[in-house]
Amino acid sequence: MDAMHSLRGGELHVDEVPLSAIAERFGTPTYVYSRAMLESRFRAFGAAFASAAQPPLVCYAVKANPNLAILNLFARLGSGFDIVSGGELARVIAAGGDPGRTVFSGVGKSEAEMRMALEAGILCFNIESIPELERLARVARGCGRVAPVSIRVNPDVDPRTHPYISTGLEANKFGVSHRDVLALYRAARALDSVRITGIDCHIGSQITEIGPYADALARVLDMVDGLRAEGIELEHIDLGGGLGIRYDDETPPSIDEYAKALLSAYGTRPQRLVFEPGRWLVGGAGLLLTRVEYLKPGATRNFAIVDAAMNDLMRPSLYEAWHPVHEVCPRQSTAHRYDVVGPVCESGDWLARDRELAIEPGDLLAIGAAGAYGMSMSSNYNTRPRAAEVVIDGSAMHEVRAREDIADLYAHESLLP
Ligand code: LLP
Repeated sequence: MDAMHSLRGGELHVDEVPLSAIAERFGTPTYVYSRAMLESRFRAFGAAFASAAQPPLVCYAVKANPNLAILNLFARLGSGFDIVSGGELARVIAAGGDPGRTVFSGVGKSEAEMRMALEAGILCFNIESIPELERLARVARGCGRVAPVSIRVNPDVDPRTHPYISTGLEANKFGVSHRDVLALYRAARALDSVRITGIDCHIGSQITEIGPYADALARVLDMVDGLRAEGIELEHIDLGGGLGIRYDDETPPSIDEYAKALLSAYGTRPQRLVFEPGRWLVGGAGLLLTRVEYLKPGATRNFAIVDAAMNDLMRPSLYEAWHPVHEVCPRQSTAHRYDVVGPVCESGDWLARDRELAIEPGDLLAIGAAGAYGMSMSSNYNTRPRAAEVVIDGSAMHEVRAREDIADLYAHESLLP
């Protein structure tokens, strides 16, 4: 998974660029992405489905990493997009993405977001409830448009992932219970400002087994058959995202195994398949480059205090997620066990625990597999400017987001009169 970098001449490189050169030019903490890996992941996803009757539409889940350069790179490769807010739609458009290849997911779409998406001409709204369908029908009527809709079903399968990122169980807030789906399609059919285009489901994220996907697909296909018996024909079947990557010792299915299992269950149905992958495309193509500020030995634990923190990479604090930590210039000296922590004033501010590292203050570390849900979930907690983002393309370094200035952080604030 960490193939985006390699050790050469005693130093980690991304493509032709040593990580110390990136730190020197842009400072730390900095997110670093590999253009080659982003492109090869996108191509591999498409190639895995080459035997499908028609090429699936890959709608990159913008929330995983919404940097305009990344959206633009995928748009150039023919990607569609999965968005969950008006803000993400604006990003897709600003990055040259095609709204006509964009699906709008999420349980809480506002009227303004619906109008914006209708005016942009998106591919479809993934509808999650009756009140949402009714609101969309009203908004579409108000602006003289017909809204394309797909109903997001909750197939009630357990994706066996972290509870915060499982979405396809009845206990989750997402989707329409498979028991109510037919009623919702009937209601949609009766609305003249709505056009039924598809069905979708998304059962969770960082899924490392095929089983839950196969179960969800079987349920969705049953529903498609039930709808057809009612005379409701669909144009697409969207199976969401969620395929996991390797952070530590997980063994997620390969993209080829995933595609093979889904295509064999799918058979020769006429509908176009749609996917919404996020993490699988970008997770392994990014790392967070950080510098060791202090080493602080303790009675029970040693701390390596680095200049990145939970505000930069929230996954460890939020999900106890494990990310690999690499020394950028490995030393021959004896390694010690460290908790890698940031400067934020919270005990939950840690990036990695109990790692064997041979390091000195001033050394660089690379936190791996940080391309997905890293920068996108970052914040300004403790009034920390968000990190810079750099894309490596061969031997070239492109800064695709400048580090924030401190003054930016309170630019929208004002004093009382
Ligand atoms: N489609 C929908 C409707 C989603 O809700 C998501 C992710 C995706 C697609 C993309 O899933 P992916 O292929 O990236 O697994 N912050 C968490 C992950 C939250 C995922 C939320 N939904 C993390 O850092 O692990």
